[in-house]
Amino acid sequence: MQGNTHEIGRRHADAKPRFGIDAPTLVLGFAVGGPALLLAAMVLTHGFPLAASSDAARSLLGAMTLTGLIMCLEAIAMTLSSRVGKRLLLRRMVSSLNLRGDEQALEVGCGRGMLLLEVAHNLPQGRATGIDLWSTRDQSGNAAAATRRNAELADVADRVRINTGDMRHLPYADASFDAVVASLAIHNLPTQTDREQAVREIARVLKPGGRVALLDFRCTAAYARTLRAEGLTDARRHGPSFLMFPWVWIVRASKAPG
Ligand SMILES: C[S@@+](CC[C@H](N)C(=O)[O-])C[C@H]1O[C@@H](n2cnc3c(N)ncnc32)[C@H](O)[C@@H]1O
Repeated sequence: MQGNTHEIGRRHADAKPRFGIDAPTLVLGFAVGGPALLLAAMVLTHGFPLAASSDAARSLLGAMTLTGLIMCLEAIAMTLSSRVGKRLLLRRMVSSLNLRGDEQALEVGCGRGMLLLEVAHNLPQGRATGIDLWSTRDQSGNAAAATRRNAELADVADRVRINTGDMRHLPYADASFDAVVASLAIHNLPTQTDREQAVREIARVLKPGGRVALLDFRCTAAYARTLRAEGLTDARRHGPSFLMFPWVWIVRASKAPG
């Protein structure tokens, strides 16, 4: 019995936060489709050498092999991006916010919390709030409970608040946060109008003197334009960074002190 308790305690101590894979359906499609195409091309080439000897058949087999290879590489690159590249880049992004440690920060579309927990680590006297709708199409295993568990495993649960809500209608008062961040989240909104609305909400809940950092692989020029239109005149995008696949840009901006 005592051995069991000790074992359970040790397993908990060894457990690490798990952040899932971004766009899991697409990654799975590449991971299954790529090898399937390569296998089909190999079987056709070696199983039916006569049929595969015409110019048209050779072109088709070449195209299948190339597409299969590209799909395999994309599956590997996207998995490494979710697990390794994103972590490195988010660490740099948070350090560039130069947080004092006592601020209130918000992440919109926080998912399982890789960025949220990085922010929380930098806020020993502050608080990191994450808001999400928990779409499992956008991130595998996405759920408020998974993010809460990750915060516990990372020892920052006391300074993390997790809310369920839509980034287009943030349930916070104007000027509530010293920093607002996002990673691979805003592009998921279906239209340009939706994305503009989310970025306007980010500007609304930011305090005077507050800072914004938004990482994404598309639409970033539009995020910077919307922030400038909302009065954050220094809004600019930085990048691309090839630490992630697809490569990404970071939009940084700040609100003039009041
Ligand atoms: C690719 S995941 C990225 C999660 C996290 N930011 C990260 O980098 O690990 C995109 C996230 O945006 C969330 N999301 C999509 N539409 C949203 C919306 N309208 N409001 C809030 N969150 C949303 C999804 O549920 C998902 O958690």
